[in-house]
Amino acid sequence: MDSLEQLVASAVQDFMAAQDDAAALENAKAKYLGKTGQITELMKGLGKLDPEARKAQGALINAAKGQIEAALTARRDALAEAQMQTRLNAEAIDVSLPGRGRAGGGLHPVMRTWERVEAIFRSIGFEVADGPEIENDWTNFTALNSPENHPARSMQDTFYIEGDDSTGKPLLLRTHTSPMQVRYARSHTPPIKVIAPGRTYRVDSDATHSPMFHQVEGLWIAESISFADLKGVYLNFVKAFFETDDLQVRFRPSYFPFTEPSAEIDIAFGSGPLKGRWLEISGSGQVHPSVVRNFGLDPEKYIGFAFGSGLERLTMLRYGVSDLRLFYEGDLRFLKQFN
Ligand code: DAH
Repeated sequence: MDSLEQLVASAVQDFMAAQDDAAALENAKAKYLGKTGQITELMKGLGKLDPEARKAQGALINAAKGQIEAALTARRDALAEAQMQTRLNAEAIDVSLPGRGRAGGGLHPVMRTWERVEAIFRSIGFEVADGPEIENDWTNFTALNSPENHPARSMQDTFYIEGDDSTGKPLLLRTHTSPMQVRYARSHTPPIKVIAPGRTYRVDSDATHSPMFHQVEGLWIAESISFADLKGVYLNFVKAFFETDDLQVRFRPSYFPFTEPSAEIDIAFGSGPLKGRWLEISGSGQVHPSVVRNFGLDPEKYIGFAFGSGLERLTMLRYGVSDLRLFYEGDLRFLKQFN
């Protein structure tokens, strides 16, 4: 191989060695075709030759130069093409993939219960009320006849928050929906027939207790609402809620400061996995005369019942969920089953 052929071969090699970085190819170009490049130097040397030899040698150098330029252009194009391919691959869209679609959202099971409870009570003439989750001591406890030293008021049970009401008592996250009895009754005139579903808070956390949970409060006050009405209303509610007449409801004597007499409401299913077991679903009772007075009403004239039921509890029984924490883990595998 003569030296010109070698020069061309080495230029081609250098160009091939230049990878995707454009500067490398330009440096390689300068080495052969630049002002002091090897081809340029050879051209400069032609002047020393006699005309005959100059012509012959010049033609050879020109041919080599042409080959080198062609190799350079080819390499440039190849690099540009490769770069384009890389980009296209990176931005590739596989049109054969199934569409992602928009994941359909769904209602949380406890919210389903909330909505069902509202629909059922509305259908028998109850209003639905909403109230604050940050409560004052009077409405959450005192007005409901809870003594000043009642254990429910301790910091072990109640979340107190910074700031106080106008009487210097601390504000708190309501521990039950019962303060809504007071708020609603004080701002409406009898007959009062209302439910108040909502969030409630207690310092408590295990398989059956969550620090935030939901209750629905019920209150019916008029001139002659009795315990028998409570039984009728509640029995009607659970039959509608669980969609079965195959239920037994039991009122078990209990104690709450705001009702007298008080009862816990238990239900037993006539069939299914929970057949025959008594399950507590609600507190209830005839509203205590002192509480009626705190409603701003005359307890000699007005009488009625109240109840407070756990929405998580109702949901667990309806769907057979055994651990309350499942409601708050946000696991889609669990939540999707309800939608
Ligand atoms: N507030 C009670 C609780 O959280 C439940 C309750 C019991 C509500 C009796 C009532 C009632 O309205 O009459 O445990």
